[in-house]
Amino acid sequence: MTIAKTKTAKPLATVLEAWKDKGLKIGLVPTMGALHAGHLSLVDQIRPFVNKIIVSIFVNPTQFGEGEDFEAYPRDKESDLRKLEKAGADMVFMPPATEIYPKGPVAEVLAGPLGDPLCGKFRLGHFDGVASVVARLFELTQPDVAIFGEKDFQQLQVIKTMTTTKRFKIEILAAPTIREKDGLAISSRNTYLDPEERRVAALLPSIMKDLITRANREEALETLEKEGREALEKGGFTAVDYLEFREAPDLSKSQKVGPTTRLFAAARLGKTRLIDNMQLN
Ligand code: PAJ
Repeated sequence: MTIAKTKTAKPLATVLEAWKDKGLKIGLVPTMGALHAGHLSLVDQIRPFVNKIIVSIFVNPTQFGEGEDFEAYPRDKESDLRKLEKAGADMVFMPPATEIYPKGPVAEVLAGPLGDPLCGKFRLGHFDGVASVVARLFELTQPDVAIFGEKDFQQLQVIKTMTTTKRFKIEILAAPTIREKDGLAISSRNTYLDPEERRVAALLPSIMKDLITRANREEALETLEKEGREALEKGGFTAVDYLEFREAPDLSKSQKVGPTTRLFAAARLGKTRLIDNMQLN
C-alpha cells in the first residue's frame, strides 16, 4: 500500500470529511521534512491516541529570518515519503506556499511574550512564523490531537498558548527528545556539520548534563551559566547565543532549582546553530 499524499486542501478536506463521518480521531504531526528518528518518534508517540495520522511537510518561509538557512534547509521528498510509509502514517500533506499563505508569506498570528526570550531574541519574528503556520495547518487538517517535540521546548509552549488563545479544540502532546549515541539531539541541521564540528557538537549535551548535576547540588545558577558558556567556547563553539536556567512553562528565569526548572542552550558552530534543553530533576 502506498501512503496517501496531498498538496492542496481540497482533496484533503474530502478525506477528512470521510474520516470524521466514521468518527475517526485524527492526529497531526507537523514537520519541515528532512525526516529523522526524532520526527518518526512523533508518529509512534501519537499513534495510541488517534485512528488516523497526518504528517505535514512544509518548509515555512515566515519562521526563517533574513540571512538564515531557508534556501539551504535540507529537502528530500522521496526519502521522506519512504520513511513515512514505513512508519505507518496515513496521509502526507505537502502544501505549496500559496496554500498556506494565500495572501503572501506574512506571519499574521503573534506568538506573544513566550516568543520573546531565548531563541526569540536571536531569531526576531521566528515564533510569530511558527504560530502562524501551525494555526493554518490546524485549520486545514482539523486534528483532534497534534504532537510536538520537547527538543523545541519554547516552540511547544508558544503552540500550546496559541491553541488556547485561538480556541482550537486540539489536544497538544509533547514528545521527549531523541538523541544520537553521544547525546547530541537529532536535528535536520546536524547534516550541516563537518566531521570536526560534529565531534565538538557532542560537547553541548555533555556540558549541559554536567551543569545540571552541579545545579542539583545547589551550586549558584548564574555561576554555572557563566562557566558553561566558557566551556562551550573553549570547546570550539564559535558563539553561545544563550545558556540559561528557566522555568517551564512560562520560561521565566530560574531563581533556584525546582520541579519545573530546565536548562536551555543555543550555540553556533560555524554556520550551524544548535539548540537543546533538558529538565533538571
Ligand atoms: P521540524 O524542525 O521539522 O520539527 C518537527 C517536529 O519534530 C517538531 O515538533 C520538533 O520539536 C520535533 N523534533 C525535531 N527533532 C526532534 C528530536 N530529536 N526528538 C524529538 N522530536 C524532535 O519544528 C518544526 O519543524 C517547525 O517549527 C514546525 C513546528 C513544523 C512549524 O513549521
